[in-house]
Amino acid sequence: MDITQLILDDHAEQRRLFSILEQIDHTDVEALTQVWDRLSAFLDAHAEAEEQFFYPELLKLGEGANDAEDGTVEGETEDAIEDHNKLRDAVKAVAKYPVGTGAWIEAVGKANVVNSKHMGEEERQGLTDFRRHAPVQLRHDLAVRFAAFEAAHITGVKPVNKDPDAYIEEHG
Ligand SMILES: [Fe+2]
Ligand SMILES: [Fe+2]
Repeated sequence: MDITQLILDDHAEQRRLFSILEQIDHTDVEALTQVWDRLSAFLDAHAEAEEQFFYPELLKLGEGANDAEDGTVEGETEDAIEDHNKLRDAVKAVAKYPVGTGAWIEAVGKANVVNSKHMGEEERQGLTDFRRHAPVQLRHDLAVRFAAFEAAHITGVKPVNKDPDAYIEEHG
């Protein structure tokens, strides 16, 4: 296994769930609620799993890839943590609106935009960087921990925003 592949697979699943939501009639509140509950729990658990198992190791081994902020692994990571905070806020904001209303659909769309922009960056920055510099055995070991964490938090995690500078200080 490879943690970079598990992350990529999760991203595909997130895109799939957003596209499912777009294809459910807005009056089918029950189905919208069920799919969004799954997607929102998944988005929060995925970000937390990356923060626990991926980014600390990236900070140790990475050098910054492609268009990484400041061309460094610290810039790359800081940007990712900021994006995770924005995503947690966007996910939380959806709950302010009645499911299936125009405002709800708009809020889900905003979460999709934040997540989509972040995934693209993460894939060509952090994941590229880690594939270039982390040994295969480490990628396997982290994949096991990442998969176990997500399995244990299938119904989500308590979303906690992180201070990017403090995070890099702690793990860098
Ligand atoms: Fe991700
Ligand atoms: Fe991420």
